[in-house]
Amino acid sequence: MYTRMNQRNLTSDQRSRFVNAVLQLKHLGRYDKYVKLHAQYFAADGETGLRMAHMAPTFFPWHRQFLLVFEHELQMIDPSVTIPYWDWTADRSTTSALWDDDFMGGDGRSSDGQVTSGPFAYRNGGWPINFGVTKEKYLTRSMGRPDRPIVLPTSDELSSALSISTYDTSPWNSAPGTRGFRNTIEGWTVDESKGGYLHNRVHQWVGGQMTGGASPNDPIFWLHHSFIDLIWVRWQRQHPNSAFYLPSRPLAANDPQHGRLLSLDEPMPPFNVKPSTLLDHRRYYTYEEN
Ligand code: CU
Ligand code: CU
Repeated sequence: MYTRMNQRNLTSDQRSRFVNAVLQLKHLGRYDKYVKLHAQYFAADGETGLRMAHMAPTFFPWHRQFLLVFEHELQMIDPSVTIPYWDWTADRSTTSALWDDDFMGGDGRSSDGQVTSGPFAYRNGGWPINFGVTKEKYLTRSMGRPDRPIVLPTSDELSSALSISTYDTSPWNSAPGTRGFRNTIEGWTVDESKGGYLHNRVHQWVGGQMTGGASPNDPIFWLHHSFIDLIWVRWQRQHPNSAFYLPSRPLAANDPQHGRLLSLDEPMPPFNVKPSTLLDHRRYYTYEEN
């Protein structure tokens, strides 16, 4: 059992330990498999087959397990490390300490989006992009999406999504009219040309590699998804009588979504872990919330 902290409360020693463990994993050649895995499970509504990481109820449990596996690998390098969370309703600025040179580094430059400061800047040598959906060999960001400006989600927007009492609902996908908690938090209820909603908009706001299937190329991915995971925790606390995951049983053979998503007790690839095993995070860690 260990504790995940708000990134703004980390000491400078904790900040550097997290960064060093991530850099070490990269140096050892064990980081890029997470980038590949995420890209591989980025199937969309329009494709065929199982949707897993996105546009499906398994959005929350799949990413929970993804973070757990990554976190355990960091802890083999430094047992004190956990994945901090970025509360983007509170730390909303491009000049937040989150983006300082000793932690995540700053925005990309306007010419090519290249991040030129901090531990993950290509020019500092420790963070080549080896696997991507675009050709850049360097980390890119374009915070606030300057060509079509957007702002980070507000606490009011988050509260309104947290008030939805149903975890997910048919057709269990990314249709904008599907108003379950999962689809609303994931962000498909608002078109991406308008910036998307909540989770998706944060990916869009950071920009660069964060906008695509290879988004774990930007280590801010983990801090964003640690907060998304905490949002699931908060939602459960707010709705103790709701089913924490739906659907609870496999869909009928004549359901158009049959074979495209997993129910509560079906193991999720590639981890072979059921959503039902992951409903209670306290088996693994807790959050320090402030
Ligand atoms: Cu993802
Ligand atoms: Cu994401």
